[in-house]
Amino acid sequence: MKLLLLGFGTVGQGFVQILRDKAHDLQARYDFAPRIVGVATRSRGILYCANGLDPAALLEAIKAGSLEHYPESAGLARDWSVERLISESGAEVLVDALPTDLVTGGASLPYAFAAIDAGMHLVFASKGAVAVGYDDLMRRSRAAGTRVLFEGSVMAGTPSLRLGMQALAGCTITAARGILNGTTNYILTAMEAGRSYADVLAEAQKLGYAEADPTADVDGWDAAGKAIIVSAALFGKPLALDQMDVHGISGLTAADIDAARASGERWKLIAHVTPEGGSVMPVRLPLSHPLANVSGTTNAITLTTDLLGDVTLIGAGAGGVQTGFAVLSDLIDLQRIIFKSAK
Ligand SMILES: NC(=O)c1ccc[n+]([C@@H]2O[C@H](COP(=O)([O-])OP(=O)(O)OC[C@H]3O[C@@H](n4cnc5c(N)ncnc54)[C@H](OP(=O)(O)O)[C@@H]3O)[C@@H](O)[C@H]2O)c1
Repeated sequence: MKLLLLGFGTVGQGFVQILRDKAHDLQARYDFAPRIVGVATRSRGILYCANGLDPAALLEAIKAGSLEHYPESAGLARDWSVERLISESGAEVLVDALPTDLVTGGASLPYAFAAIDAGMHLVFASKGAVAVGYDDLMRRSRAAGTRVLFEGSVMAGTPSLRLGMQALAGCTITAARGILNGTTNYILTAMEAGRSYADVLAEAQKLGYAEADPTADVDGWDAAGKAIIVSAALFGKPLALDQMDVHGISGLTAADIDAARASGERWKLIAHVTPEGGSVMPVRLPLSHPLANVSGTTNAITLTTDLLGDVTLIGAGAGGVQTGFAVLSDLIDLQRIIFKSAK
């Protein structure tokens, strides 16, 4: 399977680390032998090699500062544009690990459309293109006979989308409730232990859990972007950001936390989607609720089904290798559905 990797930051590198470390196992157990023929960054170089790029050498190069440090080899090109990689590399799958833009979809969307036109399957770790352009992506990929997978865009490698779309196929899912943002859950967990909002936010920024500009997390927009994707995956109907009721946690005070505790409850920032609509807001949950006991940066999702009742999945919501695994799981799925059946 020939891959084109757009974005070689935390997630791109996490994915390539997995390929470096597990190549033998992946080949032996899944007959999965991907070949990265192109890698693109914004400011740290672009590489193309028809014979495939070496994962270990890619990681060494980026560790040294840029892809310029990748060793010379036969057929290596350093001067291609992303557009040229998409149209001429012959890659079968485009892996998007580009920054998320929930307003326009960012660079991901035009690249995705060009990739579909070139006959490529798409695997997204980023959220923007899926949240903004889901209908168009699906329509165009269906017409082209290609697939669009995006497990990593919600809860990293924890298979929140695959749970609803595959493991629970046959059930009717009527609602999903999730803790989909690790930063806010980390802050709420620490506030519960008596710390102030401002103090914990500053610590989360220092630890790299929260961005310098934390608004996307604390005001609920990151969780809302993921809720849109969950609704698209489960109900085939992406919500629009402006159709959702979105509130963050910045207004929660120590008194609010104490009042919930006194009633045997706990505040959580809950993304809630049904076939009718969606919201993100702080909610007081009884301690007996599975989501009430999800602490720190961990994420979780509860799907309400007709045949099984509530099913809750808890796991990592971020991290390079954790999200790299989501990309891997989508590629193994593609291998099973497309490449195996074509053999
Ligand atoms: N990090 C996580 O835990 C996590 C979890 C789930 C989902 N995600 C999603 O995964 C995506 C990637 O996250 P990340 O943490 O890996 O981000 P990151 O570390 O900031 O890496 C982004 C990469 O994209 C490159 N890039 C930016 N604009 C580009 C363009 N126009 N053309 C080509 N390359 C471009 C950057 O180039 P430079 O190297 O030159 O800056 C960088 O290599 C995001 O959408 C994020 O929301 C992340």
